Amino acid sequence: MSEIKRLQLKIRELLKKRNAILLAHNYQRPEVQDVADLCGDSLELSMKASKTDADVIIFCGVRFMAETASILCPDKKVILPVRDAGCAMADMINAKQLREKKKEFSSAVVVSYVNTTAEVKAESDLCCTSANVLKVVDSIDPSKTIFMTPDRNLARYAKEYSKRENIFWWNGYCPVHDNLTLEQVQKVKAQHPDALFIAHPECRIEVLRVADAIKSTSGMIKYAKEVDHKKFIIATEIGILHPLKKACPDKEFIPADSGMICRDMKKTGLKEIVNALERLEPEVKVPDEIRKRAISAVERMLAL
Ligand code: 13P
Ligand code: SF4
Repeated sequence: MSEIKRLQLKIRELLKKRNAILLAHNYQRPEVQDVADLCGDSLELSMKASKTDADVIIFCGVRFMAETASILCPDKKVILPVRDAGCAMADMINAKQLREKKKEFSSAVVVSYVNTTAEVKAESDLCCTSANVLKVVDSIDPSKTIFMTPDRNLARYAKEYSKRENIFWWNGYCPVHDNLTLEQVQKVKAQHPDALFIAHPECRIEVLRVADAIKSTSGMIKYAKEVDHKKFIIATEIGILHPLKKACPDKEFIPADSGMICRDMKKTGLKEIVNALERLEPEVKVPDEIRKRAISAVERMLAL
């Protein structure tokens, strides 16, 4: 039996013993995705966390995702197997900076991307993910100004595709997606003129403008499955190629740039999950005072 298989069997055994559920983001290593109870995008994973009857949630992703699960399920133990698996974009704004900004935009509705710390969510009116950002923006009274944080690219996308003028934003970005240039995309498109181009909304607006579809990570999988086309260029973190190939074994997926790798998403391996299940740590627990202020933004989003 291979070492991977042995560790996967051990993980399944420990999950049962702990009455635990293993959630994995679509960017996780293939062997981690393959052992998970559910793989998905941020929205799907939050929804699953909010509904589970497991006692323990093993969150294979990055810290803000585990924090969101802790906000939604205060009675459960939420474990992030690698303590320092973070998100560079989420760390681009803190609560103090957002409070300062809110003085400038005092009557604005503050929409924070789920890729934020719990304390930033606690300063926000509404949360959104890449899957529902347009729906969230559309749910807001058109006469209201919107301030979005932290992703300038997601905000530009929301502004252009919702056709709302009154959207402003924090100048944050995801280094993995923001590095992808239009020139690079045009080069790959020229090499594969028969491919459809799917981009994540964290990409720059000039990249999004040449996309055939703009989707969350799970939205990409659904789209590739549904559309009657065989070849796709994919603009997001390359971990997504694994679930795409699994869902559509007869289709071809070409990364827009094979250097689109999120180091933090790759920190979690099978050994770290075994350790986490044996010790039930590192735990992520959002303090009650922050949780109480953050939950309404997350619940308002989930209710949409
Ligand atoms: P999704 O919610 O689309 O999976 O995106 C999460 C993320 O971190 C993208 O970089
Ligand atoms: Fe954060 Fe970007 Fe990594 Fe997603 S890909 S977790 S936004 S740094």
